[in-house]
Amino acid sequence: MVVSGSTIDSLLRENERYPPSDAFRTRARIHDDAVYESARKDPEAFWAEEARTLAWARPWAKVLEWDPPFAKWFVGGRLNVSVNCLDRHVATARRNQAAIVWEGEPGDRRTLTYHDLWRDVNRFANVLKGLGVGRGDRVTIYLPMIPELAVAMLACARIGAVHSVVFGGFSAHAIRDRMEDAESRIIVTADAGYRRGNPLPLKRTVDEAIAGLDLVRHAVVFRRAGIEVPMREGRDHWWHDLMEKAEPECEPEAMDATDPLFILYTSGTTGKPKGVQHSTGGYLVGVATTTKYVFDLRDDDLYWCTADCGWVTGHSYIVYGPLANGASVFMYEGAPDWPEPDRWWRIIEERDVTILYTAPTAIRAFMRWGDEHPKRHDLSSLRLLGTVGEPINPEAWRWYSRTIGGGRCPVVDTWWQTETGMILITPLPGTTTTKPGSATRPFPGIEAEVVDEHGRRVPVNRGGYLVISKPWPGMLQTLYKDPERYREVYWSQIPGKYFTGDGARVDEDGYLWLMGRIDDVINVAGHRIGTMEIESALVSHSKVAEAAVVGKPHPVKGQSLVAYVVLKRGEKGSDALKRDLQKHVREAIGAIAVPDDLYITEKLPKTRSGKIMRRVIRSIVSGQEIGDATTLEDPGAVDEVRKWLQEIEGSRGDRR
Ligand code: WTA
Repeated sequence: MVVSGSTIDSLLRENERYPPSDAFRTRARIHDDAVYESARKDPEAFWAEEARTLAWARPWAKVLEWDPPFAKWFVGGRLNVSVNCLDRHVATARRNQAAIVWEGEPGDRRTLTYHDLWRDVNRFANVLKGLGVGRGDRVTIYLPMIPELAVAMLACARIGAVHSVVFGGFSAHAIRDRMEDAESRIIVTADAGYRRGNPLPLKRTVDEAIAGLDLVRHAVVFRRAGIEVPMREGRDHWWHDLMEKAEPECEPEAMDATDPLFILYTSGTTGKPKGVQHSTGGYLVGVATTTKYVFDLRDDDLYWCTADCGWVTGHSYIVYGPLANGASVFMYEGAPDWPEPDRWWRIIEERDVTILYTAPTAIRAFMRWGDEHPKRHDLSSLRLLGTVGEPINPEAWRWYSRTIGGGRCPVVDTWWQTETGMILITPLPGTTTTKPGSATRPFPGIEAEVVDEHGRRVPVNRGGYLVISKPWPGMLQTLYKDPERYREVYWSQIPGKYFTGDGARVDEDGYLWLMGRIDDVINVAGHRIGTMEIESALVSHSKVAEAAVVGKPHPVKGQSLVAYVVLKRGEKGSDALKRDLQKHVREAIGAIAVPDDLYITEKLPKTRSGKIMRRVIRSIVSGQEIGDATTLEDPGAVDEVRKWLQEIEGSRGDRR
């Protein structure tokens, strides 16, 4: 769906500027803008130079083969991602340095050196092989944030299997759908993971997900919490049993650069999640390069990205990008406010974390919890801060910079997507003067534009669509088994350009200001959720006839979910039914998709052609004027909306 560019003009205007300090600039990997110019002149040469810093089993013949909308990077080249993330470092003095420094929510700690991680990955690669997994087979991973999550991902990479990590908060239904779509015969899970002091029973959810799913042959279960779990003979195996029996070394597969490394399902504008497929060579070059320059990584850093590996941020900036650079990665299992809202700050103080990469929603939550929590801790080890996942409001940016960064740390606001694989718009901390709220400019070698619905660049400070004009190495290859949908979703809106689905404007200095999604995807607490997915879940309830789900501004989460539901004839609304509907969504998708507000209404506002006017509903719940949006879609619809509004206003007392 394309909406008129004029309707998304931005309101944000900020004039503050934060140049990098001399102290930071002089030590930074990139300390002037020359790289932008050279990469712009010859992006392929720029990426090839970066690619040469990785280990290749066979050099590529061609940097880029661009047959729009399909890009092939490093064609003819062969490499193995686990070799690049592990073997390369094990062969040097890095072997005994920390790869993963981990802390569980209950306070247990483990450190895996590069050699330790290499050993675990080799054995687990052999475990997978022993269960019949080979090149190209899909492996589903459903684990808490424990080192084994990285081990399982890298073990897949070692043998050329394609992983599909499913976030630990997703429901049995969601796992099942993803396993069916990926035709995955194996799932790696744990008995449980900790969240707010309680073990979350993952294996039990998996049992429900794969019950009667004939396709699934094996479940490997890591014992994390020691809770009782039923194990089915022949199908379920304990991780440690298999590891003990496995051979210690596994020869890495030399993969084509264009072979898929993983699939990651993400919400789109329809009910069905999209299997975003990423490549091996281009992806690794993209994430390794951006990790190195955006976070200005150095050997003595302890780098902490607070995301979960179930999302793309964890794939690219906990596992592949940092490990390819030989970084020491800190990993935390649990909730930020457990047992107290100072947990993160305590970790930073105790562990000497130097780089923190997190989401605006977390920053806003900490702001609410009060300055006394960070103030109680010495955060002077920090030297760089990053954010990702949604637009950061200038107030949160400033709080982060001052209260957490002590006014000393550059803040990198990084824009990217599951589909882009790697950061595309970001400051470079040693050279870019930042403005709070702006992701600044495209990374070297990346070309981004803000255009109107005809693909024409919009004037300065006018809202439009963010598009990426040239292929980049981390770009998705396709949607799994659905190249047509790939073409349609990303390449049909503005011919020849990658359509991001985000609104943006470019200011007078050429800085990009992201304005959020312009389609029916909602960003709740930094997590992408498709409204259609939730609507289909609601409509699958036996008492529901129709549903519309929209996002509404929320002070901490960025946006919250609001659902309007029309019941089938003869059904009566009640609080019990509302609770039941929420439970229904939790079961169908997961807790993150449960609407905060749920209203039962007589009907939904529709255009004459019968389409639900979600955009109008969205404006209404956001407290905006409806006139414009309404007339655009259907002049006759204004009255319809007014009537509907009256009805909704009348039933506000009905709120959950
Ligand atoms: C939003 C997460 C503004 C955007 C890596 C994008 C952002 C969606 C930023 C992708 C940012 C991400 N500023 N918006 N720095 N980073 N977004 O696929 O709407 O979970 O399209 O990838 O998050 O979410 P996804």
